Amino acid sequence: MTTTLSGALREATRDAHEAAERTPLSAALAEGTLPKQSAVSYLRGLAIVHAVLERSLELAAIPGLWDPALARLPALLDDLAGCGATGLPDIDPAIDAAIALGDAILLDTDHPARLAGRLYVLEGSLLGGQILKGWFAAALGAPDTTLAYFTPGPEGAGRRWQQVKQRLDALPLEYLPEAIAAAKATFAGIEQMAIGCFPYTDASLRQRVTALNPEAGRHAMPQDAREVDMALRAADVAWRQHPYLEARYGARGRRFTLSDSCWLASLRSLAPDDILTNLRWLAGVLAVRGLPTTILERHLQALDDQFGLPVFAAAIAALRARRALVLPEADAVRLTAHWQERLPDYDAADLLVTALADEAAGADGTWDSVHTWFTDPVRFSGEWVAAVDGLMRETRAVLR
Ligand code: HEM
Repeated sequence: MTTTLSGALREATRDAHEAAERTPLSAALAEGTLPKQSAVSYLRGLAIVHAVLERSLELAAIPGLWDPALARLPALLDDLAGCGATGLPDIDPAIDAAIALGDAILLDTDHPARLAGRLYVLEGSLLGGQILKGWFAAALGAPDTTLAYFTPGPEGAGRRWQQVKQRLDALPLEYLPEAIAAAKATFAGIEQMAIGCFPYTDASLRQRVTALNPEAGRHAMPQDAREVDMALRAADVAWRQHPYLEARYGARGRRFTLSDSCWLASLRSLAPDDILTNLRWLAGVLAVRGLPTTILERHLQALDDQFGLPVFAAAIAALRARRALVLPEADAVRLTAHWQERLPDYDAADLLVTALADEAAGADGTWDSVHTWFTDPVRFSGEWVAAVDGLMRETRAVLR
């Protein structure tokens, strides 16, 4: 019989699968005694794993392996949003295990064989998922709900699995050793997550930022529910102030806005110098990803408004002052007003002028990122693109 990648993966991971079926979490699920807290943390952990794996597969672009239609993260996040889990804390060791697995997957970006092994495990889990879905729905307190995460699509679980196996089996057989190692590591990571979820103690409960954004990692998050609420409201204000964010970064961008807002709120207790150091770092990170500093400044203002205390006022002034060294504020205002008429959408004039100033102030790569998006011919007319170039020339002429 000819060896196939999927067949060999099945053989090699038989023990690992059995171990996954034998965890206390699986037993409690089957008995109908798994607490909602455990079910929620398990699904949130899986969201971390899916987020990292699906993005890695997308970026790796291995011919024939990944199809964005296979992504299960959106369904999982919808289920979590719809099951009354919002605000529920997480079980620390479970989330730590999921992040550890996510970190390991991140190292696989240049290893197609390993990504294939990991995809095998998560896609294959949809088969058992046909049994688990009712158990999870019951554990979440909604036994009549059909969880989207376990719904394979119109083709059904069997047909979908055949198609995924064909994708795996079209890969070179030399991938096998690495694919097996990665598949086993994925099973082990998910098993650790399950062990972390059940049983658990109340002492291990904490608000984790990954509940808001599975890709946010380990960063700080307020533990007080009112503070979280204010941080999320500020994020919402910042998000709505800039339609550019939605247009460019979509749902993933919104999740980052929520988690960044919680991180920003957690900075409020630091000394002013430390606040500024952290914000300068974040401003640099955001700028090269295409988010000029005005976006961060408005977000900080929204946080101060929500919390009713101007904790960030000095930092906002410092960020502006740094920009003003290369582009005096009066010039920035004049240029923005001048180009706004020809660039009326997405706050383009403001963002483009700020991006040029950020770049001149040392945030390398900002202009490239913002300019590329705002001159994409699929999105903008030739007239618009010409206006962006005009704005660039005029602004550069006054930059110091
Ligand atoms: C109580 C827990 C579980 C049960 C009852 C269960 C059950 C099943 C069942 C019935 C199948 C179909 C086997 C077949 O058609 O031959 C299957 C396949 C599979 N399951 Fe699970 N499963 C569980 C947990 C997991 C977990 C946690 C994972 C990994 C995240 C997983 C990954 C897989 C994979 C990769 C396959 C495909 C095997 C293959 O045919 O190559 N399962 N599972």
